[in-house]
Amino acid sequence: MTETLTAPPQLQIFQLQDSVALTEQQEEILRLKKEKNAILLCHNYQVDPIQQVADYVGDSLGLARKAAETDAEVIVFCGVHFMAETAKILNPSKTVLLPDLGAGCSLSDSCPADQLAAYKEKNPNLYVVAYVNCSAAVKGLSDVICTSGNAVKIVEQVPADREILFVPDQNLGQWVIGQTGRTMQLWPGSCYAHVLFTKESIERCRLEFPHAPVVAHPECIDSVREMADEVCSTEKMVSYCQSNPADTFIILTETGMMHRLTRELPEKSFVAGPTGHCACNDCRYMKMNTLSKLLDCLQSGNPEISMEASLIEQAKAPIQRMLEWS
Ligand code: 13P
Ligand code: SF4
Repeated sequence: MTETLTAPPQLQIFQLQDSVALTEQQEEILRLKKEKNAILLCHNYQVDPIQQVADYVGDSLGLARKAAETDAEVIVFCGVHFMAETAKILNPSKTVLLPDLGAGCSLSDSCPADQLAAYKEKNPNLYVVAYVNCSAAVKGLSDVICTSGNAVKIVEQVPADREILFVPDQNLGQWVIGQTGRTMQLWPGSCYAHVLFTKESIERCRLEFPHAPVVAHPECIDSVREMADEVCSTEKMVSYCQSNPADTFIILTETGMMHRLTRELPEKSFVAGPTGHCACNDCRYMKMNTLSKLLDCLQSGNPEISMEASLIEQAKAPIQRMLEWS
């Protein structure tokens, strides 16, 4: 029997390109931001043209902090739905816009609030630590929230006599168990994009770049995390690559991160970690936001994140606990 062999994908290497003038669309976005007293908060996974016009580009923790402290009238959030929801919870008097309301998250979807409520009812003594990648309703059922940037610090502060249920990412949860030595029950959720990196795909990449440190997001599976020189949030990837003397790094996270890294560290190169079938790894939800949708939403003031005041109240306490603990 013959087998069809597919060649491994060509690796993609990112370096800073010569800067090009902003497009008319980008100029119009900058003008509208001023006119509407809007701040544009942008996650590291957004496309480069959106990152270029943002007021702040960062990870979930940095974005939550910026959303909480801004005095702009409008927060335009270029990220996914749970991030924009978190901004609204932290600063409810502001108008929060998300260019595409369909920009969800597979991790968030893997933990429906009714299932978590049912599980808690059967296990009423659990202390629920929720990764921020979850809905406001799940946040409202949790004791404290964490992000990939502070998960270890948060879990270390949970009272020692409480049994922890960590939702929804089992991979981040496993990594936190390894870092803290704390046993936790893990909800069986995962990020559809980060689990596409495999031990084999990264081994192939390392053959081409044997001296490049491997930097992985904790949402990757354990056999991939074990190969990494550093496991960290997207924000910490920037400081790790800055302080490490290497000039080339293999980065295991969503491809938008390469734009942030090349802009901040123009003298270094970044190899996008390949999956088993592709040279890079875009999150289909993050990529739903486009420059055109961003422009439309600034012009029309839509789509807007709206939430019941009671839900905002329920979800706020565990987020505030996170901000106090981190
Ligand atoms: P960070 O908080 O590390 O940016 O991660 C967010 C995320 O959605 C990872 O997939
Ligand atoms: Fe969610 Fe994964 Fe996309 Fe992050 S990369 S927003 S965890 S689906």
